[in-house]
Amino acid sequence: MTRVGLIGLGRTGSVVAKELLNHPDFKVTMSLVSPGSKKAGIDVGQHLNMGTQDLIIKGSDQLEPELLATNPQVIIDFTSPEACLKNLNTVSRYEKPIIIGTTGFSDEQLKELKKTARRKKMPIIYAPNLTLGVNVLMNLVLKVARTLPDWDIEIIETHHRYKKDAPSGTAVKLGKLLAEELGRPDTDITFSHDRNGYRRDKTIAIHSIRGGGVVGVHQVVFLNDHEKLEIRHEALSRSSFVECLVHIIRFAVMALPGFYTVEEIMGLNSEEAAAAQMPKRVSIA
Ligand SMILES: NC(=O)c1ccc[n+]([C@@H]2O[C@H](COP(=O)([O-])OP(=O)(O)OC[C@H]3O[C@@H](n4cnc5c(N)ncnc54)[C@H](OP(=O)(O)O)[C@@H]3O)[C@@H](O)[C@H]2O)c1
Repeated sequence: MTRVGLIGLGRTGSVVAKELLNHPDFKVTMSLVSPGSKKAGIDVGQHLNMGTQDLIIKGSDQLEPELLATNPQVIIDFTSPEACLKNLNTVSRYEKPIIIGTTGFSDEQLKELKKTARRKKMPIIYAPNLTLGVNVLMNLVLKVARTLPDWDIEIIETHHRYKKDAPSGTAVKLGKLLAEELGRPDTDITFSHDRNGYRRDKTIAIHSIRGGGVVGVHQVVFLNDHEKLEIRHEALSRSSFVECLVHIIRFAVMALPGFYTVEEIMGLNSEEAAAAQMPKRVSIA
């Protein structure tokens, strides 16, 4: 059984916790929330409306003693960029593998994650999208872009009203992958369009919609003067994250130190879309 430590028990972390607590291959040894949280001190099973799990939720100010006492083999973080970086600082002292499901990191913060992976002997897995379908979508849109390099590209993402970052990490990632595939600079990626003037040629425009309880929709739309080709993925429930997460956990506990992304681990950016289950070292950009 793999011992897993969870940080963040909000909308996403709670679903992950429930699934992992019910999974025969995993033992959740640590469940942390924000320091001073109302959830601290209660059994995680009570928070999740399931039977008692004999696992008390604690504030992340207890991260270090919890790491020492419960010795998780992998840590999973679904918090916020600031909280995650703080937690990473502690986790990195013990060089434990960490899966970062948190999104919304600035370029500077992402650099910090990569720097930690370079300095410390631990795998850091950056996983802004854990749905298998989105990772396949990434592979598909790159093929379309290669085939139709002159078509206009628009990326539209829709999420629930509580999402704290916009655009989504996945939409930004899609934009960057497409720009790279087409040999365009990142400056061709724009957020919406100018209020005045025509659509700039070669722009890859990202649009965000926020509202209701939408779990997550990503659409990539290719257009020319006469045709429109659209590839769309919708996460129907937060449990969609868990199938992919299970693969990533198994990878993380065996991985060599380094900075990894989900697409690299799942082999979904390569021509052979079959999941590459064997740990491989990926160069740090
Ligand atoms: N990778 C993916 O596929 C994926 C999918 C969905 C969401 N996400 C991302 O996951 C993150 C969390 O999303 P969410 O919707 O679950 O957010 P949320 O409902 O706001 O939950 C955030 C959780 O983080 C905890 N937290 C905040 N500060 C903390 C700290 N300093 N130390 C420890 N825990 C802390 C909160 O504690 P309290 O409970 O005490 O408030 C809460 O449990 C976001 O970045 C979101 O974009 C990723």
